[in-house]
Amino acid sequence: MGLLPWGLLLGCLGCGILPAAWGQFPRVCMTVGSLVSKECCPPLGGEPANLCGSQEGRGQCTEVQADTRPWSGRYALRNQDDREQWPRKFFNRTCRCTGNFAGYNCGDCKFGWTGSNCDRKKPPVVRKNIHSLTPQEREQFLGAMDLAKNTTHPDYVITTQHWLGLLGPNGTQPQIANCSIYDYFVWLHYYSVRDTLLGPGRPYKAADFSHRGPAFVTWHRYHLLLLERDLQRLTGNESFALPYWNFATGRNECDVCTDQLFGAARQDDPTLISQNSRFSSWEIVCDSLDDYNRRVTLCNGTYEGLLRRNQVGRNNEKLPTLEDIRDCLSLVKFDNPPYFQNSSFSFRNALEGFDKADGTLDSRVMSLHNLVHSFLNGTNALPHSAANDPVFVVLHSFTDAIFDEWMKRFKPPIDAWPQELAPIGHNRMYNMVPFFPPVTNEELFLTADQLGYSYTIDLT
Ligand SMILES: *[C@@H]1O[C@H](CO)[C@@H](O)[C@H](O)[C@H]1NC(C)=O
Ligand SMILES: *[C@@H]1O[C@H](CO)[C@@H](O)[C@H](O)[C@H]1NC(C)=O
Ligand SMILES: *[C@@H]1O[C@H](CO)[C@@H](O)[C@H](O)[C@H]1NC(C)=O
Ligand SMILES: *[C@@H]1O[C@H](CO)[C@@H](O)[C@H](O)[C@H]1NC(C)=O
Ligand SMILES: *[C@@H]1O[C@H](CO)[C@@H](O)[C@H](O)[C@H]1NC(C)=O
Ligand SMILES: *[C@@H]1O[C@H](CO)[C@@H](O)[C@H](O)[C@H]1NC(C)=O
Ligand SMILES: *[C@@H]1O[C@H](CO)[C@@H](O)[C@H](O)[C@H]1NC(C)=O
Ligand SMILES: *[C@@H]1O[C@H](CO)[C@@H](O)[C@H](O)[C@H]1NC(C)=O
Repeated sequence: MGLLPWGLLLGCLGCGILPAAWGQFPRVCMTVGSLVSKECCPPLGGEPANLCGSQEGRGQCTEVQADTRPWSGRYALRNQDDREQWPRKFFNRTCRCTGNFAGYNCGDCKFGWTGSNCDRKKPPVVRKNIHSLTPQEREQFLGAMDLAKNTTHPDYVITTQHWLGLLGPNGTQPQIANCSIYDYFVWLHYYSVRDTLLGPGRPYKAADFSHRGPAFVTWHRYHLLLLERDLQRLTGNESFALPYWNFATGRNECDVCTDQLFGAARQDDPTLISQNSRFSSWEIVCDSLDDYNRRVTLCNGTYEGLLRRNQVGRNNEKLPTLEDIRDCLSLVKFDNPPYFQNSSFSFRNALEGFDKADGTLDSRVMSLHNLVHSFLNGTNALPHSAANDPVFVVLHSFTDAIFDEWMKRFKPPIDAWPQELAPIGHNRMYNMVPFFPPVTNEELFLTADQLGYSYTIDLT
């Protein structure tokens, strides 16, 4: 099967512009030809033979390496889920970039580097407390979020159908859709937690590629780095930084849920956002998980109603405390078998919040990160939908700041991360789902400073 003319047309969108971020999948590779050959090695610039920028020594088209070590946990199928051996069900050849080059066509630089040869250190990206931003910085951040909600992603598209039907009923029509930069960010999170689709109304709920295991910290770190880079490009500001929300106030109110920041509660319906906030008009995507499961389909990015948060009737629920953060930062082990939600004395599991903050296991407990999601309630409390709420960004930025403090404090050897027998998606060398081109957990198990950003925060 050859390339169709429209495929060629699509294939030339994006020629000459540098990619902003890496996720699923570059628009240029979503052609019948690319999908049938399972090769995504686009040329860089206008020269068709310059695959992966090979003529400038930026990279080569090579076979995709995927982790084949055994995993543990509940997911016991083989060859049923497209996220197994990610991304080999879709592509088995991609660009591998040399040195500081990066991106799906090696037209980009690794995090922390800039310049046409990626040989200059990028200006510092400093993530600050959202309450310490100047009015100007606050407006830059909120304005960038709003623009991201309305701007089609320049390079990436989402797939909208089960992988076995990806080329459409006639095998000639890739089932893809454009979506906005922010909705793309939401879709990535949905895709990593959604169920395996075995048949109509037969979802298999056994895998989670971004939670309940060590990849929790690296997956969310990479997810934020992608958004931050997209926003840098959108605003034309290379040092644009996502702020963080220090949620460890111990209070029973959300101090970023104000009209100045993410929106107060609406008077006539406190589960909606106040009309004085720009977020009151934000619609959500990827919320109807049961519906997708019934129809054996994927979230296609259409709007499904307004963002919701519950700001009243909290029955004395309280946010985590500074003490909780100190407790979790005193845990020496990064993770412990079975590397799941029932691991005890695991820094990762305490931070994620299935353990008590001191690392002891109590299955009734929700702490730290989990507690904050559940406290916000509404859209934010549903894993497949949570990223629709812009508070997700600053909640995870703070979670990443705690992870970074732990990395600086304990300087873990690489084998602190299990090579095998973590749940599917969580082994050290697994390519994080659904990012593209492939990136392993290991590549993000670093200090933030090695990835070109930092936090103005003192957690000691
Ligand atoms: C990659 O996929 C293509 C298309 O299915 C197949 O022909 C080829 O043998 C695969 N290559 C490897 C190394 O698996
Ligand atoms: C984005 O779209 C929303 C809803 O359509 C609109 O209210 C808002 O003004 C738009 N923002 C920008 C920056 O265009
Ligand atoms: C598939 O092919 C059939 C028969 O040629 C045609 O009638 C139909 O419109 C095609 N469907 C799509 C989605 O292209
Ligand atoms: C996505 O948008 C581009 C232009 O931004 C357009 O050329 C392309 O046809 C769109 N693709 C789909 C699947 O709608
Ligand atoms: C770029 O972003 C940073 C951090 O978000 C901000 O402090 C700075 O003022 C911005 N620069 C410009 C020129 O807007
Ligand atoms: C997209 O998804 C929505 C919500 O699940 C659904 O109602 C709609 O039919 C889908 N659109 C297409 C073209 O499949
Ligand atoms: C953890 O949970 C898994 C799956 O439910 C179970 O098989 C395992 O025995 C549990 N391990 C511990 C230490 O509780
Ligand atoms: C929101 O809070 C209510 C009341 O506490 C609770 O019943 C409900 O399960 C929560 N919703 C979610 C999605 O967690």
